[in-house]
Parts: sequence; structure tokens; C-alpha cells
Amino acid sequence: VIISSPRKNGNSEMLSSQFADGARKAGHHVEEIFLRELNISPCIACEACLKNGGICVQKDDMKELLDKIINADVIALSTPVYYYSISAQLKIMIDRTLAGGGKMNNKEFYLITTAADGKHAMETTMEDMQGFVKCLPGSEVKGKIYGSAFHIGDIKGNPALDIAYKYGENC
Ligand SMILES: Cc1cc2nc3c(=O)[nH]c(=O)nc-3n(C[C@H](O)[C@H](O)[C@H](O)COP(=O)(O)O)c2cc1C
Repeated sequence: VIISSPRKNGNSEMLSSQFADGARKAGHHVEEIFLRELNISPCIACEACLKNGGICVQKDDMKELLDKIINADVIALSTPVYYYSISAQLKIMIDRTLAGGGKMNNKEFYLITTAADGKHAMETTMEDMQGFVKCLPGSEVKGKIYGSAFHIGDIKGNPALDIAYKYGENC
């Protein structure tokens, strides 16, 4: 479960925790990863990884995270909506998966997002994440979780929390 909000205990994080709790309840091995705690630099488009078998020239926390992504069967991506897009933290991580080459195929994805202005404000952000999944042959989006919430904690009591838990339980 990859949590990309810079805001600790924020709305998308709460939805993600519910997903993780549901998946744990179902007996899966689950890890919650907070991008805000990692040091991941943006892709510099040198394309070295495309020629050397997937080794990035940048030595930061992405290597370990990429290994975890490659080894996962199911990945939940979560982000707040920022100007109708994903967070910068998630975008940086996605670009750095270029070094994963064909090793990230055949995975199941769940997409989680929150926005202040309701579901219609989340579609372009969902599309951003779907665009990433589209680049991974055999991978597919199994569920999308929308949480309408603005200030920290506004998500409490939102039915999206139960939806997230159930998706986790059934993934
Ligand atoms: C920089 C920034 C840009 C935002 N842009 C939008 C937006 O375009 N549409 C919207 O509905 N909410 C927008 N919001 C509100 C957040 O999406 C909302 O507060 C969300 O619940 C934050 O999730 P989090 O608590 O997980 O960080 C923005 C918030 C910030 C800080």
C-alpha cells in the first residue's frame, strides 16, 4: 500500500489504512509505505536503466521500493488530488519505476484518492494512476476508491472507509 500524501494521518492515508487492515484480516502480508518518509529523486531520463538491465544511476530509496513493488501481487496506490492530478511524491515514484522494465507486469491495482470537491474532481487523478497501470502489460485496476474530504480528518464517517476495507478484504 503506497501512501503518497505529504500530510500525516490525512484523508487518503486513512482510506489506505482501511484497505491495509482489510487485507491483513484476509490473511495477506501487507506493507504500508509512506513516500513522505523516503528519499526518492525524480527520474533524470538518462535511460541508463533501459540499457543496463534496470539499474538506476541514482542511489536512493527507490531501489528497495522497486524491489518491493516487483515482488508484490497487489498494489494499492493512494494520493490526494492536487490540482486535478496526483501528488508530486507519487508522480516521482511512478517515473522512477522505469527501471523496473518488464518486471512489474501482471499485478492487480487498487486506486485510492481524496479531494475536497467531490467525485468529479477525482477522475483526472484516477486517470493519471490508470495511465501508469496501462503501461504494465497484464496488470489491471481491480478497484477504485473515492473519498470526498477536505480538511484533515474530514474523511471520518465517510462510507468510502468501509468500501476501502472491503476491497482490502477481498483483494
Ligand atoms: C496543493 C493542493 C492542491 C489541491 N487541489 C485540489 C483540487 O484540485 N481539487 C480538489 O477537490 N481538492 C484539492 N485539494 C484538496 C485535497 O485534495 C484534499 O484536502 C484531500 O482530502 C487531501 O488528502 P490528504 O488528507 O490525504 O492529504 C488540494 C489540496 C492541496 C494541498
